[in-house]
Formats: sequence, C-alpha cells, structure tokens
Amino acid sequence: MDKIKTTRENNYSPQKVEKFWNDITEAVGRTPIVKLRKIPAERGIRATVLVKPEFMNPTGSVKDRMAVFVLNEAVRTGELKPGGTIIEATSGNTGAAIAMYAAAHGYRAILTIPAKMSKEKIDTLKAFGAEVYVCPTEAEPDSPEHYYQTALRLQGEIPNAYFMKQYFNNNNIESHYRTTGPEIWEQLGGQLDVFVGGIGTGGTVSGTGKYLKEKNSAIEIVAADPYGSIFFQYHKDGTLAKPHTYLVEGIGEDMPCDSIDYSVIDKIYQVSDRDSFRAARDLTRKEGIFAGGSGGAALHAALVHAEKLDADKTVLVILPDSGIKYISKIFNDDWMREKGFLD
Ligand SMILES: Cc1ncc(COP(=O)(O)O)c(C=O)c1O
Repeated sequence: MDKIKTTRENNYSPQKVEKFWNDITEAVGRTPIVKLRKIPAERGIRATVLVKPEFMNPTGSVKDRMAVFVLNEAVRTGELKPGGTIIEATSGNTGAAIAMYAAAHGYRAILTIPAKMSKEKIDTLKAFGAEVYVCPTEAEPDSPEHYYQTALRLQGEIPNAYFMKQYFNNNNIESHYRTTGPEIWEQLGGQLDVFVGGIGTGGTVSGTGKYLKEKNSAIEIVAADPYGSIFFQYHKDGTLAKPHTYLVEGIGEDMPCDSIDYSVIDKIYQVSDRDSFRAARDLTRKEGIFAGGSGGAALHAALVHAEKLDADKTVLVILPDSGIKYISKIFNDDWMREKGFLD
C-alpha cells in the first residue's frame, strides 16, 4: 500500500503560516495515520497494522471530536445558551474536551468523575477552570453518589444548565460518522480491511464503523472490552454479566448505554489490564508512539486479530488518548510492579 505524503514532502515550512483557526476548538481532528514497523513483525504478523494517534487532538484525546461536535450542535439548536453551564459525567477525556470548549467559548463547566481516574486527568479539568466533583468509583449505578447520578442532581439544581449525556446523545455517534469515518476513508483511499477501537460510550466504534461499512460492507469492525465490563457478553448473547472493577480507563461499562450501535460491531475481544498496559508500554518503547491504556487494549485486540490475516490486509487501530495522562500509573514501574503487571 502506498504511504501517504509526509508534511515534509508537501513543502511544509514552519516559518510560513498560511492559515489559522479562529479558536482552538477548530483545530480538532485531521490526525495522522502511522504504520507500526516493529511490533507486528516481531509477532510474525504479515498484515499492515496502522494506528491513528487521536492524542494529537488539542486536549490529547479522541473525545475532542465528540465534545466539539455535540456542543456546537447544542449551541445551534439553542439547548446550550449564552452564559450557560455545561454539565457532564466523564472519565476525564470528555471532561477535558468540554473544559477546553467552555474556556474558549465562555461557558461554565461542571464535571463529575470517578475517583479511580488518574490525578493528571482530574487536575487537567481544574487547569482549564472547570469545577470538578470526584465521586466514589465503587458507588452502585443507582446510588446518589455515583458520578452519573451526581451530574443529574446538579442539572436539576443549576439554572441554564446543559447536561451533555454522551452515553445517550445521538450526536456522539454522529460526530464520528461525520468526522472520524470520512477522515479515515479519505486518508487511506478506502484501502482498509479492519478497524479496531475500544468501547467507552461506543461513539467512536459505532459512528466510524457505520460510515466505513456504508462505504465498504466488507470492512470488519472489531472492538476491545476490558474483563469486568458488560459489553462483550451483551454483544454475544444479549445478557448482562456481573461487572467488576478493572484499571484501564475510558473503556468498558457497568451498565448498558444507548450510544452503541451493536449492529456495526463484528467482533469484541476481552482484554486484561495487564495486556492493555503492556501493549501501551511496548508501543512507546518499540515504536515511539505514546498512547494510554485503552489504546493498548485496542492494539492488543488488533494484534490477536491480525495474526490470522494475510499480507494484503490492512488493520487500523484507534489510539484514543496519550500516555502523558498516565505517567503516574502505566508508565511508572513501581505502580506496574505493585499491581503485578511487570515480571
Ligand atoms: C481513554 C479513552 N479511551 C477510549 C474511549 C472510548 O471512546 P468512546 O466513548 O467513543 O467509545 C474513551 C472515552 O471516554 C476514553 O476516555
């Protein structure tokens, strides 16, 4: 497969600024696609394995796409009014994207987040000026202390509030159907056989998958789900497994949600914390690509899947966020050893 032209070949000149964005939210998307050189070869994989580092978005994650699209739509339809407050229950990345949007466009942002999320993520929300409610990770989904229930309560208490509800908002899927899907299709000139991503809300995989399948129904959509999450079993037989906690952040869920289109997902692989984190560390050390644990989970699933594929196949893996967000965890040897993830 032809490699795309690099910016250097395209006469890139750092001195010459030909165009600027009107504000930072316009700089979302248009992330590159990069081929993995060492990791697939080491495993005897013959297919081409590509990654899309979504951490190159302004707040370092794929959620910039969703938040900016959803909030622009909410402004357009009048659901989010001038001077309003944006509320969201978030695992951190959506919160950072909302906090960026609020800072750039002059809104108040209130974010609820489970305590298990990394300190870096929680502090990032505060850095943008958002108000943050840290909620107990082990709270049951219907408990008033759960991060989603806390956001619902705040919505009732605060006037002129817009609760984004990424898990139930149709524009979550739509954002990826309108941006991520077409972008990948154009970048690869349609030369793609398998798309792999993690499922958090399901927006990325569902929206991108829907677009790609409309373009070519033979493209396989593969997802990664942490052990302990309900998605794998729900996709398999429609029943709900008993959830248990796991450490990888941003993917998996303990309750069903509306933002997943199961019909576009061909296969879900269950991935352990250990495999997710070790894949993220490998990606950094062997390829120089610094992604977080959910990217590691997606890469692990992609490599397992790619082992069966012929040399003419192309697999693309979404890397939702940056390793910078997990310096104190996945990229800290003491933490990894303490959890039993290092030999
Ligand atoms: C780190 C990380 N990975 C993956 C995802 C999953 O993306 P989606 O919600 O589109 O399924 C998220 C979503 O919050 C995330 O924060």
